[in-house]
Amino acid sequence: MRAMKTWTTLKIRRAKGARRLACLTAGDFSMARLLDAAGIPLILAGDSLGMSMLGYANTLPVTMEQMLHHTAAVARGAANALVVADMPFMSYQASEEEALRNAGRFLKEAGADAVKVEGGAFRSGLVRRLVENGIPVLGHIGLTPQSLNEMGGYRVQGRGAEAAEALVADAKALDSAGVFAMVVECVPPELGERVTREVAVPTIGIGAGPGCDGQVLVLHDFLGLTESPPKLAKAYLNLGGDILGAVKQYAEEVEKGAFPGKEQCYT
Ligand code: KIV
Repeated sequence: MRAMKTWTTLKIRRAKGARRLACLTAGDFSMARLLDAAGIPLILAGDSLGMSMLGYANTLPVTMEQMLHHTAAVARGAANALVVADMPFMSYQASEEEALRNAGRFLKEAGADAVKVEGGAFRSGLVRRLVENGIPVLGHIGLTPQSLNEMGGYRVQGRGAEAAEALVADAKALDSAGVFAMVVECVPPELGERVTREVAVPTIGIGAGPGCDGQVLVLHDFLGLTESPPKLAKAYLNLGGDILGAVKQYAEEVEKGAFPGKEQCYT
């Protein structure tokens, strides 16, 4: 039997108030392996890979098969990090039965440890059903990108007293339904902090201020590979610029006959 990973849903739950959680997304084996080696506790195979890796305009076209394929690659690279598979648009909305079967595929076929679904109180019945059937769930409230069309764009959520109360109610409903943690996306920092105080499980913020229990960044934003990153992102590298420079240098060396050199030749 394979030993348990260092990071389990129980350990993530227990991190609340004890240690802050630095999480990142990933969509392939090599990146997951590096994040895992660096000790990242939770790697999200997020459906934002539909944009960053597959070139879609938003996350709506992403399919189950694409998410299974990418999640499996991430899972193969993550020996210790908890791997969460993002359930793509329309893989869990139509019925609880379909959602349960699709969520199960992420654990059975892709080696994920948990799934993420977007939505607040109205999603709590589904969350309870998944959890009762042995499928841990990461919640996602605030800006939920799969509802882009309904929200009228990528807009800050929870602004104003009424919207803030609704967001807190969403967070509490997911907490009671059994999520092991929840992503809180794009809300004012005071609200991120309030939600964090009012729920028992860790909140993982993205554009929700420093008061959350953890943070998550989209890997391509983090690496400096996104052309127009959102305000909430921070690039820790300028990989886009570095790759461009390296490719130009390589092309120049090939054109001039400087590559390959003696070192790259077999005697
Ligand atoms: O798909 C994704 O990358 C996400 C994060 C923004 C949390 O859902």
